[in-house]
Amino acid sequence: MTTLWPSSFLSSEQLGRPSRRAATAALEAHLSILKGEPLKASLAQALREAGSLGGQERRFTALAVRELSRHMRLLDLASRTLGHPPSRIGLLEDQALVRYVLWRRLFCGAEWGRIGPEVRLPGPLRPRTVKDELLQQVAETPLPELQGPSSRWEWLATRYSFPNWLIQRLAELHPEPVLEALLAALDEEPTLHFRVRPSGSRDEVLARLAEEGVAAEPVAVAPDAVQISEASHRVFETRVMKSGRLQVQDVGSQLIVEACRPLGGSLEGLTVADVCAGAGGKTLALADEVGARGRVLAGDRSRRRLAQARERVRELSLRHVSFPHPLPVERADVVLVDAPCSGTGSLGREPDQKWKLTARKVEEFHATQVALLEEVAGQVKPGGLVVYATCSLLPEENDEVVREFLARVQGFSVEPLAPLFGPERAAVLCDGPFLRALPPRVPGGGFFAARMRREA
Ligand SMILES: C[S@@+](CC[C@H](N)C(=O)[O-])C[C@H]1O[C@@H](n2cnc3c(N)ncnc32)[C@H](O)[C@@H]1O
Repeated sequence: MTTLWPSSFLSSEQLGRPSRRAATAALEAHLSILKGEPLKASLAQALREAGSLGGQERRFTALAVRELSRHMRLLDLASRTLGHPPSRIGLLEDQALVRYVLWRRLFCGAEWGRIGPEVRLPGPLRPRTVKDELLQQVAETPLPELQGPSSRWEWLATRYSFPNWLIQRLAELHPEPVLEALLAALDEEPTLHFRVRPSGSRDEVLARLAEEGVAAEPVAVAPDAVQISEASHRVFETRVMKSGRLQVQDVGSQLIVEACRPLGGSLEGLTVADVCAGAGGKTLALADEVGARGRVLAGDRSRRRLAQARERVRELSLRHVSFPHPLPVERADVVLVDAPCSGTGSLGREPDQKWKLTARKVEEFHATQVALLEEVAGQVKPGGLVVYATCSLLPEENDEVVREFLARVQGFSVEPLAPLFGPERAAVLCDGPFLRALPPRVPGGGFFAARMRREA
């Protein structure tokens, strides 16, 4: 069994610049997350309140906020090991400071193993009762190797900071090497992935990025996906990006859009209903797939998210996307149900969810998903295709939703996805008839999709 303490560190490129204002913003956002606010909103608010931070400082803040949530269990274990259990550190502000100092020490490399000017008194947080001497001690006292948690899954839960219930559930599904690789992948700062536009122009886009000094690589399992691992922020300044040839999109999301294509053909000229369009990530990709002769009908329960989708559609002048209400699902050839879910496949990007999710909430998602699928499927035209998708790793929200739906609603059958992806990609992407994108085999987050056809 290897050490519990990390042995590889974030690069200085990833870290950005830890000024006092940047660290304060990170700590404020962390506190807001601990009080129950979502990570994204907490970060946005903290950055707004911090005022005019530079790009490197903003990057540091965003990374530190995700990292503090991501490694919380391990950081708190380190704190306990050094004689400062969080339960005995009264104030949340003090706990946050100790966690932050331990994060610098454990995840940022040897030269960060001190308390750091950005957290020294006076500031950055008020109220505060821990003194610099205590933080110094936390930063420098050698961390002993622990005898460690007794069971293997508990070791994994501690090393990769996951709640016990989730690790136990995942341990039932995957053999140990697969499970550990999955947890390690979700415990890392995610790499940014992009979709090239139009489809099929990846080589040209890669060449143009190289001309502008940005090194990008193709992603083998998705034909339009590129990955920019180092200095990915620079891509946003390139002409290629500004001309709309790249869209930030997870590899799994791109595969879900591909799962909407007819077997052996393209979506060109067809009508697709995107019933859970959210902020429009997949809507834009579907719009590119159907082309100007096709149509995308987008809807969502959240008006706020739909307003964001509208804005993105407007920016790209995609006139063949509309937002009719109610959504005329019966007019669509293909209906995408990108269902609300636990997001267990996206914990790399939204690590605060690790500590907010419960087994009970997963049950509630299951009930919502079955009801939503049933409601939508009732409106699908004869011969129409329904693609059900989630970014969940749990069968309760995936296979079991499909099974329950098929048992309740007559006239639908599952169409296996392997023929659509072809044998080579299917070997990596498919599990039985379904798409099951599991990191790190498929880079990015974990995703699921199933295709169901209504009898003609
Ligand atoms: C996984 S997100 C969609 C992400 C989006 N498709 C994308 O690619 O960016 C799920 C969405 O379902 C929406 N939703 C939840 N319940 C719904 C319902 N009953 N009908 C329609 N949308 C719903 C949520 O507001 C949320 O935006």
